[in-house]
Amino acid sequence: MMSKALWNEGVRYQAEHLPEQTGSAEFFADLTRRDQVFSFLKPPFNPKVDVKSGMLLYVEGVSVSFDGFKAINDLNLYIKEGELRCIIGPNGAGKTTMMDIITGKTRPDTGEVWLGQQLNLLNMDEAQIANAGIGRKFQKPTVFEALSVWENLELSMSGKKDTWALFRAVLSSEQKCDIMRVLELIGLETHYRMQAGRLSHGQKQWLEIGMLLMQKPRLLLVDEPVAGMTHQEMDRTSELLLSLAGNHSIMVVEHDMDFVRSIASTVTVLHQGHVLAEGKMKEIQDDPRVREVYLGQ
Ligand SMILES: Nc1ncnc2c1ncn2[C@@H]1O[C@H](COP(=O)(O)OP(=O)(O)OP(=O)(O)O)[C@@H](O)[C@H]1O
Ligand SMILES: [Mg+2]
Repeated sequence: MMSKALWNEGVRYQAEHLPEQTGSAEFFADLTRRDQVFSFLKPPFNPKVDVKSGMLLYVEGVSVSFDGFKAINDLNLYIKEGELRCIIGPNGAGKTTMMDIITGKTRPDTGEVWLGQQLNLLNMDEAQIANAGIGRKFQKPTVFEALSVWENLELSMSGKKDTWALFRAVLSSEQKCDIMRVLELIGLETHYRMQAGRLSHGQKQWLEIGMLLMQKPRLLLVDEPVAGMTHQEMDRTSELLLSLAGNHSIMVVEHDMDFVRSIASTVTVLHQGHVLAEGKMKEIQDDPRVREVYLGQ
């Protein structure tokens, strides 16, 4: 029960702090209304994220400066559910910084970043964003070299955070199926016992993509996946990414134009932290602004 003194204190406080036209009776009536939910109890919701048209990632009006230099400048980018999007642009265009912002590593100065209508990524930290279904692959593979391919995938399963878990846990048949499905996707089904350190560079990259897939991400961010790969490995990587599209949204940053062409998806060109052009590879190649800043032709 609320004491009389506390009640009086409440009445005095709100009389002093509320705008004059709101009487105390109205204020308390408002508090006890049952037909409304207080704004702080409502889940976040952004109607501008057009999920009806399949939009998954919404980046709008995003800018970030480092020591006065605008690395990202009023960036707008929208990725659909299941889409495979290539991002190209000259060195320093802001591609990696954009991924840093989406994954919570860098906070923008302005703008909005949402995953679906309900997840405001700017209110979440890196771990929360990863748990919400955004997986990121950095350029250098970071597999556990001393463990087998299978163990690497097992460790990446949601909920398994340390190698000790490998020895304690018994996998359910569903979990084993998940691992086998991913092994097949990344083309390492006959290598599952092999120590990851003995894989080729390309195979390590695929294993790392497989490790991200174990967490069933909705959006995968992949930074320069084919750097250092042989042509054969590159072809295999474009097949892999194409096979993942549809079930996942994928954003690939890549400098290798043959590779981007082989994926033949929508291409976004970043320049000075801003979208310079967006479209099919053919349109991008024919765009004089793109030729000027990027292709140097
Ligand atoms: N933490 C930081 N502090 C200061 N400057 C930064 C920081 N991160 C990025 N920058 C600057 O922001 C700009 C964009 O860099 P970013 O790494 O995003 O480019 P990029 O498009 O990924 O280039 P690349 O193709 O070379 O990988 C660069 O000029 C870079 O020097
Ligand atoms: Mg980069």
